[in-house]
Amino acid sequence: MSERETWTSRVGFILAAVGSAVGLGNIWSFPFQTATNGGAAFLVVYLVAVFLIGFPVMLGEFVIGRRSERNAVEAFRALGFGEWSIVGGLGVLSSFVTLAFYSVVGGWVLSYIVGSVTGGYLGDAGAYFGTVSAGPIAVAAHAVFMALTVAIVALGVTDGIERATKLMVPAIFVLMGGLAVWVSTLDGAGEGYAYYLSPDVGVITGDLAGIVPPAVGQAFFTLSLGFGAMIAYSSYLGRDDSLPADGSAIVVVNTLVALLAGFVVFPVLFAIEGSIPESGGAGTAFTALAGAFSQIPGGRAIGLGFFIVLLLAALSSSISLLEVSTSFVADRTGYDRVPTAVGLGVLVALVGIPTALDTGVLGWYNDVVFNLLLPLSVLFISLFVGWVADDQLAAELNLGSSFGNGFSTVWLWWIRIVIPVAIGGTLLLGIQSLLVKAGVLAAPIVLG
Ligand code: PHE
Repeated sequence: MSERETWTSRVGFILAAVGSAVGLGNIWSFPFQTATNGGAAFLVVYLVAVFLIGFPVMLGEFVIGRRSERNAVEAFRALGFGEWSIVGGLGVLSSFVTLAFYSVVGGWVLSYIVGSVTGGYLGDAGAYFGTVSAGPIAVAAHAVFMALTVAIVALGVTDGIERATKLMVPAIFVLMGGLAVWVSTLDGAGEGYAYYLSPDVGVITGDLAGIVPPAVGQAFFTLSLGFGAMIAYSSYLGRDDSLPADGSAIVVVNTLVALLAGFVVFPVLFAIEGSIPESGGAGTAFTALAGAFSQIPGGRAIGLGFFIVLLLAALSSSISLLEVSTSFVADRTGYDRVPTAVGLGVLVALVGIPTALDTGVLGWYNDVVFNLLLPLSVLFISLFVGWVADDQLAAELNLGSSFGNGFSTVWLWWIRIVIPVAIGGTLLLGIQSLLVKAGVLAAPIVLG
């Protein structure tokens, strides 16, 4: 087996992890989840979930990865708890299913880059979405997106992932920042800011079941938790890095990008449509934004910039999703990275084809991941860190950290008690919502 790689620098790791975290979740789903789930009220719940639930769980994945220096599955065995490998297996499965539809949406982004250049969506934004979102074009674009992902992962951790994310992450910031400034000059932008930034507390208390599961699910998804991605990335990390410091940087930067995306999307939508679109379906972001871009001065250029940002963000995330199974297979079998990444990429692409043919199927993959696989994996990971693994993990958190023993003690108890209760509740609400959607339950039983 070849020598295991490590990141060449601390910044390299942070940027790769930020690249994983910042993705379609921040720029595509976050503004629209916010819009359809009560505006600023959703924002408040989401921020609480990111900092109080997501951040501690991220540290949990970091200690598992760095302590074991293994991929998500073997990590548990290397720490001495082989039976828990199944939790890592659940992560690999989830990353696989997620990548299958994530890549299809990545393909849509490619089509919208083409559409910004050719002017394809200018006439009828809805019709354009219909053509590119499902059917042969969607399958082809999905294949291209997967090929790009495979190419970067095949190059390896330092030459592929680290180098690519070092370029992509700063580019995302510069382009998004530029877009946010540009759209602030549009007439009507002010109403967009007002909508985005004024919380309606009544909405949080009124529809808890409606807001909490998507907000918590979104918090995990956006931080790339539960799939073993952060376990895999931190397994290439040196002992002198401070995990709490790196984790805080990653969480803060990821949150800033999501917030920034709102500063681009809401002014554009209010300037043109005067309101935000009602349904939050997968396509709303694309049709609403493309419709708006086609009407504002310089809109095509803004659109091109926006969809390029989206592509960079999606790619820097999809490589981490593919890295989960690639590192597992490569560590386990000793196969070379290149054939491993290519083989797995082809498999994922095949699994994604049904979602490229029917946006309804895509919605199902998405719902199963958000409501079931994600909370389940995170629940098991926190139970493992809190109750099963011995003190070695809390000690690992202290290595290289200047946050002190007090921090790791609070963290451990938080992960033992608060997190399982919070996630357990979310999981029940999530399963309930899946059953309601599938027609098994006629109406919600709790917190309806
Ligand atoms: N965090 C990514 C996003 O917001 C998605 C992702 C989830 C990537 C899990 C890797 C692992 O788009």
